Amino acid sequence: MFILGIETSCDETAVSVLEAADSDLRARVISEEISSQTQLHALYGGVVPELAAREHLHNLPLVLDQALNKAGRKISEIDLIAVTRGPGLLGCLLMGMHFARGLSLSTSKPIVDVNHIEAHVLSPWFDNPQLLFPYLGLVVSGGHTELHIVRGVGQYELLSRTIDDAAGEAFDKSAALLGLDYPGGPRLAALADEFAKAGGRLEHKLPIVMQEDVRFSFSGLKTAIALLVKRVKMQQAALAQEQKASLAFAIQEAITDAIVAKVKAAQVSTGINMLGVSGGVSANKRLRARLSEIPAIQVFTPSSLHCMDNASMIASLGWERYRRGKTLDMRASVLSRWPIEEV
Ligand code: KG4
Ligand code: ZN
Repeated sequence: MFILGIETSCDETAVSVLEAADSDLRARVISEEISSQTQLHALYGGVVPELAAREHLHNLPLVLDQALNKAGRKISEIDLIAVTRGPGLLGCLLMGMHFARGLSLSTSKPIVDVNHIEAHVLSPWFDNPQLLFPYLGLVVSGGHTELHIVRGVGQYELLSRTIDDAAGEAFDKSAALLGLDYPGGPRLAALADEFAKAGGRLEHKLPIVMQEDVRFSFSGLKTAIALLVKRVKMQQAALAQEQKASLAFAIQEAITDAIVAKVKAAQVSTGINMLGVSGGVSANKRLRARLSEIPAIQVFTPSSLHCMDNASMIASLGWERYRRGKTLDMRASVLSRWPIEEV
């Protein structure tokens, strides 16, 4: 059985082809193609939804062709189409859904709809046979920060979710304050890591926010970071590279502190020792190192390509859902908000 995955929830147009036999525990990736719009949106310092949707419309047929060619398959050989239905930017989701519906109508193949965050939560499991249920599933991306007990496919218990910004947003907005180009998260991380490697130490104090609360929150920290950067800038006309790196280091420590504290508390309260981390921020090296220092926790991450938005996680979950008898109701609409407990 060949499964086609389509992902267009934000600024990545992604198509994957996976293969699975009925007896397989997991589907296998045959080809995966991603067209990123980062350069387009960098001009505006963030994702412009209308431009993103238009880009998906243009890119989808091209990325589909590339993925099918690399897989050595024709569209008529695809048996199942999996598509992201939400959460995400409405215009972007619509492009993917309409494209998938068109393919389904022309090939008479079934479609299964997939929740993007559920796919992130399960992506460490798709990529690591050693990760067993139940595990703690941490999603840290540009739009979401949440922690679940993952008891199986479709079985999630919410432990914590952000009440304001997401971890990726905290990285990106802080990076913008330091004058780093969009998307600033990885740039800020690189600067912080270089600073640490050169023997740099913590020179700025930032608060540990919402310590007593199970929920994540990054807006208080964001304000503290904005004030700190303003204060340092007042002392100097322009931030020297050394000062920028020192601030980046302190910011990365503060954001990772906030995440690590919630995971520690969840490990103690649930007694679960396996952690699956996913979403763009799971690529952060310092976060990975700090999480693996938590006593009694074994950390699993997806392969580096699957930390970011990708269509292989959509096809993998689509296959799991199809096996459980789920298909898309053709009248169903896309969903900008779609908590995984409501899937
Ligand atoms: O999961 P993702 O690709 O897209 C969303 O669904 O949001 O996550 C993108 C986010 C951005 O905020 C980006 O800055 C952040 O992940 N990110 C990082 C790193 N790599 C990506 N943040 C910190 N350190 C990184 N190495
Ligand atoms: Zn994502």
